[in-house]
Amino acid sequence: MVTFTYQKKAPAGDKLGALVLFFAEGELNPPEGLPPALARVMRQAVQLGEFGGKSGQTQLLLTSPQSVADTVPRLLLIGLGPPDKLDREALRRAAGRAGQQLNKLNLERAGLWMPAAAGAAPAAELAAVLAEGALLGAYTFNSYKEKGAAAETPKAELKHLTLYDPAGGSSAESMHLGVLRGEAVNLARNLGNQPPNAMTPTQLAVEARDLAKRRGLKVKVLERADMERLGMGMFLGVAKGSREPPKLIVLEYRPRKKSKHSLVFVGKGITFDSGGISLKPGAAMDEMKFDMCGAAAVMGAMEGIGRLKPAVNVVGMIPACENLPDGGAVKPGDILKSYTGKHVEVLNTDAEGRLILGDALAYGIERYKPHAVIDLATLTGACVIALGHYATGAVGNNEPLMDKVVQAGRASGDIVWPLPNFPEYEESLKGKYGDLQNIGTKEGGAITGGLFLKNFVGEVPWAHLDIAGTAWGVKNIGHIPNEGATGVGVCLLMDLVLAWNGLS
Ligand code: BES
Ligand code: MN
Ligand code: ZN
Repeated sequence: MVTFTYQKKAPAGDKLGALVLFFAEGELNPPEGLPPALARVMRQAVQLGEFGGKSGQTQLLLTSPQSVADTVPRLLLIGLGPPDKLDREALRRAAGRAGQQLNKLNLERAGLWMPAAAGAAPAAELAAVLAEGALLGAYTFNSYKEKGAAAETPKAELKHLTLYDPAGGSSAESMHLGVLRGEAVNLARNLGNQPPNAMTPTQLAVEARDLAKRRGLKVKVLERADMERLGMGMFLGVAKGSREPPKLIVLEYRPRKKSKHSLVFVGKGITFDSGGISLKPGAAMDEMKFDMCGAAAVMGAMEGIGRLKPAVNVVGMIPACENLPDGGAVKPGDILKSYTGKHVEVLNTDAEGRLILGDALAYGIERYKPHAVIDLATLTGACVIALGHYATGAVGNNEPLMDKVVQAGRASGDIVWPLPNFPEYEESLKGKYGDLQNIGTKEGGAITGGLFLKNFVGEVPWAHLDIAGTAWGVKNIGHIPNEGATGVGVCLLMDLVLAWNGLS
């Protein structure tokens, strides 16, 4: 856990393990007010060609034996790239690099000299962007490693970061907003990174109850018996092959003042996906612990929303279960009766996400009558093939909603790429022995998978986000760890809610 302080001054005299300085390419002058001894060290690094402000560049300098070394023994120079390309995201990534590097050093306190990044973001919002980036970059998941035993877990851990803003254009409030966002994302990452024997559906429900209590949300957990009573045959079908009981977790946020706006978010919570009877190959099957990252995104967003208190009703739903192959498991050929009454022939038990989501979506829409519904799911390997790791695929039934989602994606950095939704793609989902079958053509599999869900949302504006590529496995983005869960979707959902004013 890193705590943050904002100061409208230069770090003169403050005892810091390291001071972070940002420079754009070709703008390599020490900031005004930097103690001359530190400025000298910095200038030397530039003269020696060790640092040029390139995007992604980081350079650690030891300031010893200067007299200031007692207060600031290390300078960390971070490149911002070309000044004309410096936008909010570049700034967030640069701050992320800073957080990442600081975490590798053996220190507890550090300072960050806020750059004068005119044009990148309004000066007032600079502290938010930098704090969010730094907190996300400094994220580590070391719960199961002995402290100090490995190089990546130094003896001292970064505990405190001060943002120095001598120009004074930003504010502590802005910084707190960035910290709030970063903490919400890191919560999602923690849930995603937990091993599947720890993060079971039951544990997810425990985490949801904790969250609700902490943030004043309503929470309800539907048990297997409730789902049987409600007729959620698709969800129950998937859950049948595991000894872990399924949970349908519902978190409700209501603003203090009555709001006419309402949204439902649904996150896929398969806490482990073995494929079931249609068993996956062994290679990298461990990664299927991340099959609950949609659920993690919804949890993270509800955490953030509970703190931001926007003027929109938001319900977060998480169907959670394991997909395992025991003697009671659903089999290829089985026909399941969904919550809506439609019958679905299971042709591949590994296409389980759409089954649990279909029931959760239909139930959530009927129960909460939202103006729009968004689901997030690590739904298809095909989406990873189509888009790789740097964009979330999207399928929906409503253009104005899709526009808003894409816009929230841009604002948040969780980039969304709409996929075509022509009716032709839906043909292959028609069932031979039932109304529907759970797999369509594997060509365009991210689309056919997404469009399966369309059968369970009726007329409500709906967008499906396939985060299979973006939920983990992302490399070389400053504020995202190269290993493990990214927390994708959390900032997107928060930004969507904050900007929500209905659908035109
Ligand atoms: N959770 C997987 C999708 C997945 C695979 C996400 C790899 C990230 C990386 C999902 O449940 C699944 O297994 N989908 C199948 C669908 C197919 C059987 C139609 C897939 O993508 O192979
Ligand atoms: Mn699967
Ligand atoms: Zn899955």
